[in-house]
Amino acid sequence: MSGRLVQIGGISPVVPERPVPESGDMHDGFGRRIEYLRISVTDKCNLRCVYCMPEEGLPWLRREEILSYEEIAHLVGVMAGMGLSRIRITGGEPLVRRDLPSLVRMIRRVPGIDDVALSTNAVLLPELASELRDAGVDRLNVSLDSLRADRVDAISRRPGSADAVFRGLEAAERAGFTPIKVNCVVMRGRNDDEVADFARITRERPWHVRFIEVMPTGENLGVSRDEFVSSDEILAAVGAIGELRPVAGPPGNGPARYFAFDGAPGTVGVITPMSHNYCGTCNRMRLTADGQLRPCLFGDLQTDLRGPLRRGEAIEPLIRQTLRIKPERHWLVQGSDAGSGGLAALSQVGG
Ligand code: 5AD
Ligand code: SF4
Repeated sequence: MSGRLVQIGGISPVVPERPVPESGDMHDGFGRRIEYLRISVTDKCNLRCVYCMPEEGLPWLRREEILSYEEIAHLVGVMAGMGLSRIRITGGEPLVRRDLPSLVRMIRRVPGIDDVALSTNAVLLPELASELRDAGVDRLNVSLDSLRADRVDAISRRPGSADAVFRGLEAAERAGFTPIKVNCVVMRGRNDDEVADFARITRERPWHVRFIEVMPTGENLGVSRDEFVSSDEILAAVGAIGELRPVAGPPGNGPARYFAFDGAPGTVGVITPMSHNYCGTCNRMRLTADGQLRPCLFGDLQTDLRGPLRRGEAIEPLIRQTLRIKPERHWLVQGSDAGSGGLAALSQVGG
């Protein structure tokens, strides 16, 4: 089986395997129940966010390397038979892939899947929001790193994108995607002075603003080392404008910790991959656009499902094998790509 493991970078140590249930629902070797799959449908993106991709882009996957929608739906079907119930579609930017609503419809038809969410930078939502809603997307996460147009353009390194992003957010609300979750990667000197402004919005609108600590990848070492802002500092800035109480947060239990101001329709959340590890409650695996099943966002472990799928081989044993090697936690180190497993950018594996 170890021949199925592909490394992304570095020298792989012997991969420790742990026993997992041989049938029934997916559990990993640490007893964690896996019921959530993040599916990256493309490694491409129409933006170049400074903490993600280099300006010139990355070496993109070739078309034949990328799973078709039929192949993705087939894999979802296999995993749904093993207890998978929730899906998130990511990228790169998922909306740059042609006819994404048809994938949503195919996934919605898989018995056992009861929640389909999508992460997007919102640029293409003016055109696509209502079609996605009709196709069966339940929830949207939108990346928004600033409330100021000039800064959205600067952080995304695509002048003019701010206009589309703001129209995209409106289109999402009009299409019925409420409440909306907004993801904001906080960077010193670029947007850290807007934390309170973002938080104030949650008093007026049902937005769930989640501040994310920047994670180091091969392509963003300067930003992740020099511009890192911890969640403690973020929460202090939010707390300065009003008293926060811990709350359960919106549906779709991810790794965020949520807080709210008294009487506010929205919430403020922090996602703290660096300062507070939350791997103990991990419930997910990832499928890359080229059909690699990754037990963890970081690290160099992945199982090729595309080859076996195209050869008509059994997939379930490969999924159990991936559960056996799911690591206990990630080993990210601030300012270093040591624990990232040679990843250039999260866009390669789905953020
Ligand atoms: N660190 C933190 N968040 C990141 N994202 C992409 N790259 C990084 C990184 N290196 C975020 C995006 C998006 C989500 C899918 O992942 O901003 O909101
Ligand atoms: Fe694109 Fe998202 Fe990466 Fe920005 S963070 S470049 S929107 S994939």
